[in-house]
Amino acid sequence: MIYITIDGPAGSGKSSVAFYLAKELGFEHLDTGALYRSAALLWLREGERNFFDELEKVKFELKNGILTMNGKALGDEIRTPEIGKVVSKVAEMPKVREIITHKTRELADKRNVVVEGRDIGTVVLPDACVKIFLIASVEERARRRYAQYLSKGIKLKFEDVVREIESRDRIDSERAVAPLKPASDALMFNTDSLTLNEVVSKLKEIVMEKIKKC
Ligand code: C5P
Repeated sequence: MIYITIDGPAGSGKSSVAFYLAKELGFEHLDTGALYRSAALLWLREGERNFFDELEKVKFELKNGILTMNGKALGDEIRTPEIGKVVSKVAEMPKVREIITHKTRELADKRNVVVEGRDIGTVVLPDACVKIFLIASVEERARRRYAQYLSKGIKLKFEDVVREIESRDRIDSERAVAPLKPASDALMFNTDSLTLNEVVSKLKEIVMEKIKKC
């Protein structure tokens, strides 16, 4: 089975790139940010009481590109500014990382899959065949996130989106367990001033070449 990992900071384009790259390759796509966002949703709904037990019990499934939590497809409810504000704090907890890492490995098992996140190439799937780390400037990333919120009818100040991105970057990179960082064998790819199509077709070329050797 072939694993391709795509890591990078918030708004670096991981989700769209991983989605289209997986489609082009005929692979599954697994967005681990969605798993941490679901954990944050559970945290907001349940509070601290029983949180870890409840999270442990959650059943995630991935079929034909659809990620479900306890049988229900995950949608816009995990992509709100409220979740954006707390998700990195929830993801910082070592116990949360342990549970989600285990669930991610189970979901990826025996599949050709593009898995995206922050620590996939370094911690979750260190033996992956191809590892990519996406980078882009804070302004570019905030612009993309702002457009995503607008397309969902969520109106925010641009400065607030910049602040959300910067705060998540800081917490994600500075946490003690599995911080955001490129694996030593990751390919660094800057997406600034490239269109989504350009990024996907360039990466597809690189990946096709590399997977011959896996
Ligand atoms: O990818 P996305 O921006 O949706 O991820 C939301 C948050 O989940 C990140 O800011 C990070 O705190 C956390 N995350 C993580 N490790 C991953 C994926 C996401 O800590 N592998």
